[in-house]
Amino acid sequence: SAIYLKDYKVPPFLIDKTELTFDLDEATTIVTSRLHMRRNPAFGKSTAPLVLDGGEDVKLIGVAMDDYALPPEEYRISEDKLIITATADEFVLTCETLIEPQNNTRLEGLYRSSSMFCTQCEAEGFRHITYYLDRPDVMSVFTTTIIADESRYPVMLSNGNEVERGKTDEGKTVVVWHDPFPKPAYLFALVAGDLAVKNDVFTTQSKRDIKLQIFTESHNIDKVDYAMEALKRSMRWDEETYGREYDLDIFMIVAVDDFNMGAMENKGLNIFNSSCLLASPETTTDDTYLRVEAIVAHEYFHNWSGNRVTCRDWFQLSLKEGFTVFRDQTFSADMHSETVKRVEDVSFLKTAQFAEDAGPMAHPVRPASFIEISNFYTLTVYEKGSEIVRMIHTLLGAEKFRAGSDLYFDRHDGQAVTCDDFVAAMQEASGFDLSQFKRWYSQAGTPIVTVTDSFDEATGTYRLAMKQDTPATPGQPTKLPLHIPVRVGLLDEQGTVVSSEVNGVVAEDHVLHLTSSEQEFEFSGLTSKPVPSLLRGFSAPVKLRYDYSSKDLLLLLSSDSDGFNRWSASQQLAVNELTTLINQAIEGKELSIDSQLANGFKGLLADKTLDPAMVALILALPSQAYLSELANPICPAAIKQARQYLKAQLANALSADFERVYREHKIQGEYQATAKDIAHRSIKNIALSYWVETNSELAQQEVVTQFQAANNMTDQFSALSIAVNSQHKQAEELLSAFYEQWKAQPLVVNKWLMLSASQDQENALETVQGLMEHPAFDLKNPNKVRSVLGGFGQSVAGFHNADGSGYRFLADQIIVLNKRNPQIASRLCTPLTRWKKMQPELSAKMKAELERILAEDLSKDVYEVISKSLA
Ligand code: ARG
Ligand code: ZN
Repeated sequence: SAIYLKDYKVPPFLIDKTELTFDLDEATTIVTSRLHMRRNPAFGKSTAPLVLDGGEDVKLIGVAMDDYALPPEEYRISEDKLIITATADEFVLTCETLIEPQNNTRLEGLYRSSSMFCTQCEAEGFRHITYYLDRPDVMSVFTTTIIADESRYPVMLSNGNEVERGKTDEGKTVVVWHDPFPKPAYLFALVAGDLAVKNDVFTTQSKRDIKLQIFTESHNIDKVDYAMEALKRSMRWDEETYGREYDLDIFMIVAVDDFNMGAMENKGLNIFNSSCLLASPETTTDDTYLRVEAIVAHEYFHNWSGNRVTCRDWFQLSLKEGFTVFRDQTFSADMHSETVKRVEDVSFLKTAQFAEDAGPMAHPVRPASFIEISNFYTLTVYEKGSEIVRMIHTLLGAEKFRAGSDLYFDRHDGQAVTCDDFVAAMQEASGFDLSQFKRWYSQAGTPIVTVTDSFDEATGTYRLAMKQDTPATPGQPTKLPLHIPVRVGLLDEQGTVVSSEVNGVVAEDHVLHLTSSEQEFEFSGLTSKPVPSLLRGFSAPVKLRYDYSSKDLLLLLSSDSDGFNRWSASQQLAVNELTTLINQAIEGKELSIDSQLANGFKGLLADKTLDPAMVALILALPSQAYLSELANPICPAAIKQARQYLKAQLANALSADFERVYREHKIQGEYQATAKDIAHRSIKNIALSYWVETNSELAQQEVVTQFQAANNMTDQFSALSIAVNSQHKQAEELLSAFYEQWKAQPLVVNKWLMLSASQDQENALETVQGLMEHPAFDLKNPNKVRSVLGGFGQSVAGFHNADGSGYRFLADQIIVLNKRNPQIASRLCTPLTRWKKMQPELSAKMKAELERILAEDLSKDVYEVISKSLA
């Protein structure tokens, strides 16, 4: 039951106005809708029946057409559709439905989280509330009436502005909200609960005062100051960078504990997973501070890229997500450090998106088909989608990109459009031909760009020969060449960037347009063979192959003027060494390496001119996950052994340097989530993680001291993680102390669950089973499920246990969650979908679990992922 992009048809009916009434109650909620509908002129003359989307959890009480109650023979319910055969050209459809939010465990539609009612309607959650044309190209003006008992639900919110407040005869409170901006149902939201609020005001560039409100349960309201400041920074930034001003008079955010994803951009009423909104120095790490800021910005930016201009259909999801991720990434770069942000984003992309693009669920940024759209809220749609927008920015330059963005928002305001419309606006405003570039949207897989070079002494000409090649992906056996922007600089032997001439342009930095499968580029005006700095700033989401010597990499690492490529060189050097070690481990040899990395690190640790945040990123060895993405087959135990060996090796070689750096970067004073302070903490903590690897008593004592004395969660949790990961003799003791200290703070407990579940010990499975029985665990709460099962996935001894018990355990949990919460169940399948790349013994055990899951009665979500993985 897949649906296809090529089958798209405009909707036969439109809904100009949507009037909803919610009578909220503990046991049942009655939803009454009045839909002002008409046939869609764009559909052409038709007598097509009216087919409304619903869910099996929606009970129809009654339906009326222009106040004529339809008798059962005039409509029918087929699976999850309500079908009305005879309709006028224009009419008001009234529907009364009954739902039970307290029994909604899918967390789609209207549900309960703690003591409140809340909604999640993207992508197709609205149909679990009432029958509707639940598709993004049906945009409607919503008026929402909420009726509830004010003593339990003093706060009652929906989209837009509050326009009325009163009482029913029975004494219930009635609040009416009106949103003047037409929107698809996926942007609808409702919240009711006993919530505390923090108020603020933002004055827009045109001097309108916007009321800002953040709502949480009362015990959390002390943790929203950072989000509020981040919101104001986002609003200012979008005015300055994109000329986008906020439109309604009020902007609200609500934090809820039970939420499938990170957050949701409902018009005027964003709803957040509390883990992506709440922050305080004692309970929140630096990473999470930055995440809160980025997600607040992301959801806010959707007000234009997503809400004012939305998607025609769900195949176009990246139209809003790719663009909005690009906007939030640029925002974070502007707030902190551009290079650090770029390294973090690229590292994530290369680890997780590249793996997705090489696996059974690989799909284009604009997918051509799907069974369940929830499965396509992916790293490809979001992160690779953002890379596509970034490449357009690189190709056009900042000014023309902005002109393209202005044209896009201008032309399509109030419309539901496609990725083609976005590219067309960019092309028209800039005059830059993007016709070949557009293939990035439709072609899946990560291109491999192979580069070789030569130098002609006599003429001072340097040549780069490039080849591109995209591996086959499911459903796409052959690939066409893409338009790939490759940013290049050239370094001389001293590491100085030299200028050169390409096609008549003299510069230190050139963007080359690789458009054919094989192509040559010529640089003139050089005196000696340079070392190329390729793909600067990661100018395209490709795998680069160039045969760098260790010496070249050390030169780039110490001297490249492109900070990103300094990091990239360190990664390549580490990958080279780790690959050698992994192979030794697989062959059962004793590990040994003459590490060049140690020399590179020594220079960095001594250089006080460098940004400590960058040094910290360089010091972090490639993750187990990234090394797995590179490996074929994947041998988790060998990868782990190799990483541990190299880390210990570097630690011993540079032990005095790590100790010194650890001490130098201890900072005093109150916690601040500024780039500068975050940088000091990150280098200090990574230095400590190396230093303990030397088994120094002093270092081990320092871990305990830091754990106990820290005035912020970053330092305390770093110390705890270091203790756990280095098998510190007090690790267990510290873990228990941490739980005791923080058991009243669910978000901190989630971190504890994750770390506890990730321990790499023989009894890891028992540990995890114990955690699932722990009072702190709750199967209903997606954050807790993710913490425990996500953490367990990190445990090589546990998850990848040779007897297959780890895989079996995960499969059991997927089967349980498949019924309760299909979206979460489907996400949990990811590690098992990598089975084809695993070493043979493990691969067979993973496959057996996938087959066992497939034999169950599955949700569309889980069925799609499992069946495609086995195909
Ligand atoms: N639009 C949201 C965001 O990226 C994500 C919502 C996804 N929800 C889902 N059920 N798939 O900001
Ligand atoms: Zn988004």
